[in-house]
Amino acid sequence: MAGLDVRLRVTSPEFLALPWSEPLSRWDATTVPIRDVPVGPSRHLVRFVEVDGRMWALKELPLRIARREYENLREMEERSLPAVRPAGIVVQPFADTAILATRYLDASWQYRRLLMRLPSPMRKHRERLFDAMAGLLVDLHRNGVYWGDCSLANTLFKRDGQRLQAWLVDAETSAVHPSLSDGQRAMDLDILVENVAGGLLDLAARMEEPPEVSARLFAEVEGVRQRYCELWDVLHDEPTVRLGDRHEIEARLRRLNDLGFAVEEVRLVGDSPDAETLRLHFAVAERGFHAEELRKRTGMAVGEGQATILLNDLRAFHGHVQQQQQEPVSDEEAVRRWLDEVFRPGMAAAHAAVGRAGDPIQAYCDLLEVRWLLSERAGADVGDGPALAALAARTVPSESAAELAVADADTGEMPALSSEQLRIRSPDPDDDVDW
Ligand SMILES: Nc1ncnc2c1ncn2[C@@H]1O[C@H](COP(=O)(O)OP(=O)(O)OP(=O)(O)O)[C@@H](O)[C@H]1O
Ligand SMILES: [Mg+2]
Repeated sequence: MAGLDVRLRVTSPEFLALPWSEPLSRWDATTVPIRDVPVGPSRHLVRFVEVDGRMWALKELPLRIARREYENLREMEERSLPAVRPAGIVVQPFADTAILATRYLDASWQYRRLLMRLPSPMRKHRERLFDAMAGLLVDLHRNGVYWGDCSLANTLFKRDGQRLQAWLVDAETSAVHPSLSDGQRAMDLDILVENVAGGLLDLAARMEEPPEVSARLFAEVEGVRQRYCELWDVLHDEPTVRLGDRHEIEARLRRLNDLGFAVEEVRLVGDSPDAETLRLHFAVAERGFHAEELRKRTGMAVGEGQATILLNDLRAFHGHVQQQQQEPVSDEEAVRRWLDEVFRPGMAAAHAAVGRAGDPIQAYCDLLEVRWLLSERAGADVGDGPALAALAARTVPSESAAELAVADADTGEMPALSSEQLRIRSPDPDDDVDW
């Protein structure tokens, strides 16, 4: 049997000093900074440690599978895909096991947990969740990644403005190819539908929902398939247009931009020399159209969903000051004033209102959404005051994206495990006490 082989991409001494040669189940919580993260049942033992002020996930699994998962995650990182980032792999000097280390995905939630926590019928939230899941599978497939095990437990999400961004967390069964065939995509989508349907039925049973809900759940899961297909078609559609048909080309460009995709190249191809119509083809980049525009204008790097909201806010502010001053105001001037007078103070107030939990930029996006919804209701602009009060009291309008602030539990609040708890809780894979 080979000896210990530690391969880490994190060079901190504290990380290197973890007791890698011990089985993960025997790590001692009195000497190792293990954190309690309720993740529900999983096949392998997963533990979380806090080292150098950051959280890491450690998973003990058979060496062959660990190697494959590590390589898969590295490939996904290379392609900038939303998947947890691999931090290392440690081959242990006994049995045939390894520990796979990944960076903990901050401010993320498991689908299962949120679905259990939110009050029903929560139609809009569920739509946001399933939109994000379909979007993730499209992103993976466009990059040649076959997942093989998309499920409620293997998908995490993070809030991103009024949308959610889904992340892949478990790549044991994945395979990365140059591109995927239609058959491979269909198979992956079938796995998603089967896993998610099973997961939803399981949750419904745990929450003691009546059996009649199953028809709604199946329809919901089929909806994910439909969303996937619609998004795939928008991205890969090759319509025929006339050369001078600016309107049609612009409309399609705008639709892609609205979905967050930048277009890198437009091609118009005639099938024959005298063809009157041409095939229109867009080379579509990764999702990040608004994020890139905001980065260029303000230097801020935020999620695509957050960027869409912040750009609207900036645009509205620019229009407002021009109207007030009755003369054009340069873009630089508008950006500078928006940052100083609107964004920074608004972000500080919003983050304070939610008790400094989660991402401050997300808190500002929530403030804008709540202010808008309350103003709509009142028929006039209510200003920041009532919106901040609603955020603080968690009485935001029902089914607003801001309601999902319930998911912003700070990782800093995670309790440390005592060795007593460790003995009780693990390594029982069915441990589900915190649900
Ligand atoms: N890097 C991470 N960041 C945040 N959460 C994580 C991370 N890694 C694992 N988790 C949490 O731990 C759970 C279990 O991890 P994972 O799915 O990789 O384990 P598994 O035992 O292989 O699962 P399965 O039973 O699906 O085989 C995940 O659902 C997720 O909630
Ligand atoms: Mg899993």
